[in-house]
Amino acid sequence: MTTATAQSHPNIAAIKYWGNRDNALRLPVNGSISMNLGGLYARTTVTFSASKNDALSINNHAVIGKGLERVSYILDLVRSMANIKEKAEVSSENNFPAGAGIASSAAAFAALALAASKAAGLNLSEPELSRLARRGSGSASRSIPAGFVEWRVGASEEDSYAFSIAPVGHWNLVDCVAIVSVAHKKTGSTEGHAIAGTSPLQNTRVADTPRRLDICRRAILTRDFESFANIIEHDSDMMHAVMMTSNPPLMYWQPATVGIFHAVRDWRSKGLPVGYTVDAGANVHIMCLGDYAKEVETKLRELPGVSDVLVAGVGGAAQVIESALRSTL
Ligand code: PMV
Repeated sequence: MTTATAQSHPNIAAIKYWGNRDNALRLPVNGSISMNLGGLYARTTVTFSASKNDALSINNHAVIGKGLERVSYILDLVRSMANIKEKAEVSSENNFPAGAGIASSAAAFAALALAASKAAGLNLSEPELSRLARRGSGSASRSIPAGFVEWRVGASEEDSYAFSIAPVGHWNLVDCVAIVSVAHKKTGSTEGHAIAGTSPLQNTRVADTPRRLDICRRAILTRDFESFANIIEHDSDMMHAVMMTSNPPLMYWQPATVGIFHAVRDWRSKGLPVGYTVDAGANVHIMCLGDYAKEVETKLRELPGVSDVLVAGVGGAAQVIESALRSTL
């Protein structure tokens, strides 16, 4: 029996991934850039043994059906790489609430890729781990490397992986996540990616992505907050324009979401270094310079419709916490 535990952070995309050119391989139509969210993590233990089936528990609740199938798909990839047949028991826990607008799948699949490959006796390189995590959830590819990360679109399965463009200590950015809804979203990102191409705006958004990636990468490397805030808002708005004009249309925003956009732009026009971005949900990620995080959090809590605010700085790479060969005695 072999076992390993790994831990990884969720990430927030500054330039978003939306749409696949290959849904099964999760090969994206465009590159993306993100920041790992420090302090928040998924911790996953994988144990290969002689049991009959794979089993999964998340936060101590047994999961079957689609959730288990997605995990078994990654385990199958690992089994074939390691040339083993043993089934696995997977248990995972998050230290951040579900439905908080923080993609738990990114952290979960990054931790799974690392724990499963280690438990199977493999020592995968960072690009190999990122590619493996990508097969579970595209954004999980970005939770393998540390700090500020770019996932290159790639020309093939082999070169579509994420890498660090700046380390954790490079820039003291903080993500204040304003919670306006804890309802489970009706359409998850897997279905969303599959219909992205039905929007007449998607081709234009994709064709324009190298420009946005360049601006965002440069803003991060030169720590230019104004340019960073402008490009993340523009990119998030473009992705949501595609979502809203897909067939069927996806409208993730709530009235409070839009209220926060107005407040954030107003604060920035008055000199506060803040900018917003939203994933496939109603909650708003307000990125700010670390020195202003307390003030931003306080102001957000005063806005109508905001029920809570989570605060996260820049996070490191996915890590193995424990790995062992256990005797079956
Ligand atoms: O990795 P997925 O399939 O959950 O897709 C993530 C999609 C967004 O969160 C909306 C954007 C992104 O790049 O993280």
